[in-house]
Amino acid sequence: MAIAIFTTIHDNEAMTTFDDIEVRRPGIAQAYLALLAAQPGRPLALFAPRRVGKTFFLDHDLAPKAKEAGMLPVYADLWLHKSAPLEAVNHALEEALDDLRVPRSHLGKLAKTPVKKIGALGASLDLGDEPQRRPLPESAALRLDALVTRLARQHKGQVLLMLDEVQTLGEVPDGVSLIASLRAVLHKRREDVAAVFTGSSQEGLARLMTTAGAPMYQFAQIIDFPFLGDEFLRLLAAHFSKVHPGKTLEMVELRDGFQRIGFKPALMRDVVKAMSAEGITDVARGIDNYMASGHQVAIWRALLNSVDAFDQGVLVVVAKGQPPLSQATLETLATIPGSKPTISKVRSSIEKLKRNGLLSKNAGGTTIDDPLFAEFLSKKGSMGLALPIA
Ligand SMILES: Nc1ncnc2c1ncn2[C@@H]1O[C@H](COP(=O)(O)OP(=O)(O)O)[C@@H](O)[C@H]1O
Ligand SMILES: [Mg+2]
Repeated sequence: MAIAIFTTIHDNEAMTTFDDIEVRRPGIAQAYLALLAAQPGRPLALFAPRRVGKTFFLDHDLAPKAKEAGMLPVYADLWLHKSAPLEAVNHALEEALDDLRVPRSHLGKLAKTPVKKIGALGASLDLGDEPQRRPLPESAALRLDALVTRLARQHKGQVLLMLDEVQTLGEVPDGVSLIASLRAVLHKRREDVAAVFTGSSQEGLARLMTTAGAPMYQFAQIIDFPFLGDEFLRLLAAHFSKVHPGKTLEMVELRDGFQRIGFKPALMRDVVKAMSAEGITDVARGIDNYMASGHQVAIWRALLNSVDAFDQGVLVVVAKGQPPLSQATLETLATIPGSKPTISKVRSSIEKLKRNGLLSKNAGGTTIDDPLFAEFLSKKGSMGLALPIA
């Protein structure tokens, strides 16, 4: 009772800062679950750039909806475990299995342990061994198979496997065979498991599909994950007006600004917070100020300094919209002291920068992944290259 009252008070006080602003998208989660149910064995692959809210969605929208539907959501971030992605998946499944199998209290654990022998006079009670199963297979692929089956049986319902940043699989040496294993298990155990992947790089996805041949392409349904929209911007504007009575942020300006920063909600929130601190309502100016702030410039400098002078030059060239493999580019890059630019050097620099997440490839060709960083770079490089830039 006391807890219920407390919760109500807490709810009423919610949404008191910009940081509390969150958009929930249960409808989208529901739609994805319906798609999964309609095509057993076929995962969904949600693709969108970095920082637009994919992980947030898995955690706050998809997992709760899946639970409501009787599924057991299991999450693994493959990017965090680049060197051994399949092991990371297995580990997540093992943790989930432990959570189900080992009851929280010691009492519960004892109660599950069968009595092995009762003394002749009924005086001594001997507890049997802890509950045990056949050991799991050694190979990661076989373990995945066994774990999925056991987990679904234990849960008495379907497992929803959520694999975040799945393009990582395209970047590991044995990626092709990993994908084949994953695909085989998800198909064979389609009664027991459904899967949702996310990915941040179109390039990574393309590589996954081509290196694995037809499998991945036919196997996963690829979906463009939708950006947040007016709902989020309206909440920002409403809170701004609450803090600054009489001042309003125009929706048109907010929309333009949100697009300019690449639809990244945390970044947009920071911009509006800074505008609130300054008391300004012009969103374009707010973004300009934000970009010029010492803090932001320091972050970009650090990002730029994380790569060598040649790579910095390539970033600037791309930011300025110059075709990276052109003669003009080679001439520009030749102004970097000590560099002897060749097409193949530029190519391998681009590959490296893509792996670092600084560049990405989309329909428009190779671009800087973060549009604000692109603006910063194009300004930096406007007077010839004059490297080192930072
Ligand atoms: N629906 C949302 N409502 C409010 N803020 C969000 C929402 N989704 C994401 N964010 C904010 O954006 C940040 C980045 O989102 P995240 O899910 O990590 O992006 P991604 O996984 O696409 O890289 C989050 O930490 C959160 O602050
Ligand atoms: Mg993420």
